[in-house]
Amino acid sequence: MSYDLVVIGTGPGGYVAAIRAAQLGLKTAVVEKRKTHGGTCLNVGCIPSKALLHASEMFEEANHTFPALGISVGKPKLDLKQMMVHKQETVDANVNGVAFLLKKNKIDAFHGTASIPAAGKVEVKAEDGSTQVLETKNIVIATGSESAPLPGVTIDEKIVVTSTGALELGSVPKELLVVGAGVIGLEIGSVWSRLGAKVTVVEFLDRILPGTDDEIAKQFQRILQKQGFEFHLGSKVTKVETGKKGTVVTVEPSAGGEAKTLSADIVLVAIGRRPNTDGLGLEGAGVATERGRVTIDDHFRTNVPGIYAIGDVVRGPMLAHKAEDEGVAVAEIIAGKAGHVNYDAIPGIIYTAPEVATIGKTEEELKAAGIAYKIGKFPFTANGRARAIRHTDGFVKVLADAATDRVLGCHIIGPHAGDLIAEVTVLMEFGGSSEDLARTCHAHPTLSEAVKEAAMAVEKRQIHM
Ligand code: FAD
Ligand code: NAI
Repeated sequence: MSYDLVVIGTGPGGYVAAIRAAQLGLKTAVVEKRKTHGGTCLNVGCIPSKALLHASEMFEEANHTFPALGISVGKPKLDLKQMMVHKQETVDANVNGVAFLLKKNKIDAFHGTASIPAAGKVEVKAEDGSTQVLETKNIVIATGSESAPLPGVTIDEKIVVTSTGALELGSVPKELLVVGAGVIGLEIGSVWSRLGAKVTVVEFLDRILPGTDDEIAKQFQRILQKQGFEFHLGSKVTKVETGKKGTVVTVEPSAGGEAKTLSADIVLVAIGRRPNTDGLGLEGAGVATERGRVTIDDHFRTNVPGIYAIGDVVRGPMLAHKAEDEGVAVAEIIAGKAGHVNYDAIPGIIYTAPEVATIGKTEEELKAAGIAYKIGKFPFTANGRARAIRHTDGFVKVLADAATDRVLGCHIIGPHAGDLIAEVTVLMEFGGSSEDLARTCHAHPTLSEAVKEAAMAVEKRQIHM
């Protein structure tokens, strides 16, 4: 078999690269070791977690918001089995959708574990042990990432789980202990908290969500605490012991000091993810890596001609849309076009309630870079639509360059923040100013008016506050 391009891994990076390459006329194949396509994101990540976040949020709304809206349905009863059916149906529809798209674009799909014996060759080892070698002009490594282990703690995916196990629990834990106050811990913690678990989060640093704008993270922590989360910041888990009387977790201050113990039914380890390069044969093929990630240049090229890499396995945020955009760009580059990704305008969303959405620089980053900036802020308590839906927690913060007014960052905590950030993403992509945003007509009554008012507040001319 001989191809223009073989893509290893069919996550959001890989399948998108393959489809774009096929659109551009390249003879393309993909190799995937999972039974289904779609990678971490569609099988065990973005999609199942959002299915459960949505379902558990509806449960929470029925429990706590419906009465205030004048809807009396009695106390909602949880049918966890059906909720998991909803999750699986969502996953199945998405992964089958990718299989359909690959077929529609005439992409050959091989199931098995790929390795690279040399540039121009991809070996595929099927589950039954048989192997075949694909000849190809180009290779894209899109093998993604896996959960990072916590030294000294054994994951069994039943009691001590990663996100994968935590999205498959057969019953609601009484006590869920989460190690790591990052995106996974707070999203999946929210799912089980809404369904009745007491959630305790142990975080190594003295804050939640490192890298997120400080003010947003602080407000988010307060809101989560109101929802019942308990945080142990500046702390690390040193031991997890599972016995007949349940699980005991030993926690120490990060800086050293006296240990304490916490009890839990389930322990979720969510301390980051690490790139998947094991067994790919990178060393043999001479492909350079840096701290586990495949090293690439600005055109996704590794040091070996004809071998490219994208997505979680390379530098940058581990996000599905970042991987997808890199997939498009690498295919265009291989086809001789000018593919490009703007890393200054990649939004990040946390799909909790309220949602947290960020793009561009945080205040702390601007200060550290010595860039003079102006701030405009607007709270959802002053937005008519937020009041109508009874979700007034949070605010929008716009950061603009003090000299040029160009928007450098936007941080939102509030209802539908993930959708609201999209207009700021487009604005930033076009190098827009806070004035541009403030003078754009926004429909009334919408949550997006809070974004416009935050932009107006940069020059202290907001109307509704
Ligand atoms: P992956 O999706 O990891 O795909 C890589 C594929 O390569 C896998 O299918 C793997 O089986 C295959 N593979 C690996 N090695 C080989 C080999 N040797 N041979 C053949 N195949 C191989 N991101 C968001 O943007 N939004 C979210 O809401 C979001 N939620 C998440 C929730 C959870 C619980 C998790 C864990 C992650 C979430 N992410 C989210 C992150 C997102 O899943 C990743 O950024 C994204 O999947 C990366 O895409 P990728 O194509 O680089 O790799
Ligand atoms: P993360 O990097 O977001 O957070 C990990 C947290 O664990 C950090 O706060 C870190 O300080 C802490 N930590 C590290 N070692 C620790 C230790 N020993 N003890 C206690 N705390 C420790 O990683 P997470 O949540 O595992 O997510 C992995 C990746 O998946 C992220 O990079 C994220 O981009 C992606 N993801 C994206 C989602 C989204 O876009 N909505 C949802 C879920 C995951």
